Parts: sequence; C-alpha cells; structure tokens
Amino acid sequence: MKDYQIDVQLSSTKKEKPAFNQLSFGTVFTDHMFVMDYTKGKGWHDARIIPYQPITLDPAAIIFHYGQTVFEGLKAYKTKEDEVVLFRPDENMKRLNRSNQRLCIPEIDEEFALFALKKLISIDKDWVPNVEGTSLYVRPFIFADEPYLGVSPSNTYKFMIILSPVGAYYKEGINPVKIAVESEFVRAVKGGTGNAKTAGNYAASLKAQEEAEAEGFSQVLWLDGREHKYIEEVGSMNVFFKIKGEVITPELNGSILEGITRKSVLELLHFWNIPVVERKISIDEIFQAYHASELEEAFGTGTAAVISPIGELSWQGEKIIINEAKTGELSKKIYDSLTSIQTGSVEDPFGWRVEV
Ligand code: COI
Repeated sequence: MKDYQIDVQLSSTKKEKPAFNQLSFGTVFTDHMFVMDYTKGKGWHDARIIPYQPITLDPAAIIFHYGQTVFEGLKAYKTKEDEVVLFRPDENMKRLNRSNQRLCIPEIDEEFALFALKKLISIDKDWVPNVEGTSLYVRPFIFADEPYLGVSPSNTYKFMIILSPVGAYYKEGINPVKIAVESEFVRAVKGGTGNAKTAGNYAASLKAQEEAEAEGFSQVLWLDGREHKYIEEVGSMNVFFKIKGEVITPELNGSILEGITRKSVLELLHFWNIPVVERKISIDEIFQAYHASELEEAFGTGTAAVISPIGELSWQGEKIIINEAKTGELSKKIYDSLTSIQTGSVEDPFGWRVEV
C-alpha cells in the first residue's frame, strides 16, 4: 500500500469511555474523526484526523436541501489477542463508490479511504470494546457542502469518518422479532436510489417504521414499489427465508441494497453446500409455504444486527408464527459462524478479516 499523507492533530483531552458492558447503539463517539474535502477542479484534498467536534456548515449547503449524501457502516472488533480487525472493509469502500456514482458524488480512492479508516481506528483503538456482542461501529459518510439552492450536483464535498463503540442494534439481539408486512408505504422503487446507501432511503422508511412500532412490531417487511407483491427488505436489512430445506433471498433488482452481510451469508451457504437461490419471492408464496408447513425459518441480515430472526409475520389481518418464534438452527449457525469470523475466534477460510 502507498504511504498516503494524512495530517494528524491529536486531542489534548481524552473523553471518558462508557462501560463496555452497557453499550447502546450509536450514542457515544470516540476522541477523533477523519475529514477530507473535495473541490471541483482540485479533487479530494486536505485529508486530516482531528479531535471529534461539531462542524460548521452554511445553511444553504446542498445536503440540507436536496440530500446529496452517501454513507457506509462497518464494524471493528477486538480479538482475544488484543488485535483490532475489520470485516470485509474493501466491500464497504466499493459500495461507497457505487453509491457515489448514483448520487453524482465524485468517487474516492478506495485504497486511500481504507488506509484513512485504519489510521483513525488505530489512533482510537482503546475505544474498540472487548465485551461479547460489542464492536466499534465505523461510519464513513460523504455530503455536499456547497451553499447553493439550485438543484444540481455540488462543487464541494466533505468525506468524514466517525467511530462509535456499540452494543446490540435491536434490543431483541438474536431473539426473533415481530414484523408487519408493509402494504401502504414503500422503501424504494426500481430506478430510484434503493441500491445506494443514501440518507433519503432511510428517511423514506421512518413513517412505516413509526406506525409499525406503535402497533407493537419491531420492523416492517418491505414489498416492491410497483406491484406491492414481491419481498424486498426487512427494516434496514436484507431478508432470507428457508422453505423446504432451500434458502431463498430476493434477487438484487436495483431497489434492494447489496448488503455485505447478505453477500457473506450467500457465500457461507454455498460453502456449506446448503441449497440457496436468489430470486423474486412474493409475500403470497411465504404465506402459502407457511400453510403447507414448509416455511422453516426467516431472518434479516445486516452489519448492525448481523442476523435478526423473524418470529412473527403479520399481513392482511393474518399473523403467522415462524419456527415457534424461536431462533432457527440455520439462523443460529450463520450468526455464530459470522460473528466468530468477525471477532477472530476461528480461522477465516474466506480472507474476510482485515487487521487494522
Ligand atoms: C444495517 O443493518 O447494517 C444498517 O444498514 C443499519 C444502519 C443504518 C444503522
């Protein structure tokens, strides 16, 4: 790897760290952050690591008005040997650039971004928690900061990385959650920005999530935007079903996010010779499989929760209980395998783990 130039200004004070056995998700941040600027004609410049602090933006900055922004999410873990490791960070950098392309944001040098990310983590390595179920959540993000009220791509951007020690994303952890099939709102449509990791997709999901929560559900199951028939995602995760011994996940269609956990689960299943297919799957098919006693498991996959089993699914007034609302054998096997590779407690035959 090239020796990239990053200016480092260390913080003169250190914040008090939270108890690592009482971490919530995304509420505390480490001592430092990474910042780099982009100016049209000059490219990306002034890469720096500085003390974590608020930033000043012009009220007319494009991000506030038209949402030109992308982000990523990945995790760093502390191994038993006290090393810090990341899980497939190169995949996040590739996806960041795919999101950049969709949002007309200039691409970043993936190798440099990874170098910067590792440097920031190594400066704040004491913040990587070592308690089971915890990690250091890494949030790279890019946003348009040019003050301009016309609708057009910005001429200036900021690329930042912040770090947050986290515990479980869902209070249920690996325990099955209750899901409502969403039949009014959609998360994304084909041709929209569904397969980019951009703020608008998450803002668009809030209303359905709020209504589902008010009715006692944890998340919603998103259907496609055209026919309201085919399954797309669950909450902010990809989704898998096990029917008659075969695992099925919705095929990537432009409106589904290409999850890195999704990709890893598919690769694990192939490695284990468990039948798995990526195809369109309708909500009807799931309920039919349930009635034929063929629906064995269902689970969401994502960086934040890793695996989140679905215990209950409600649609059009009918409620089905999947696998007696218990964590399925396959869900547990995938969760254990992924988390032990991620945390360095087993060999990594895939080369997914990257040392910081
Ligand atoms: C994930 O499941 O990793 C997500 O995308 C959630 C994140 C937005 C907090």
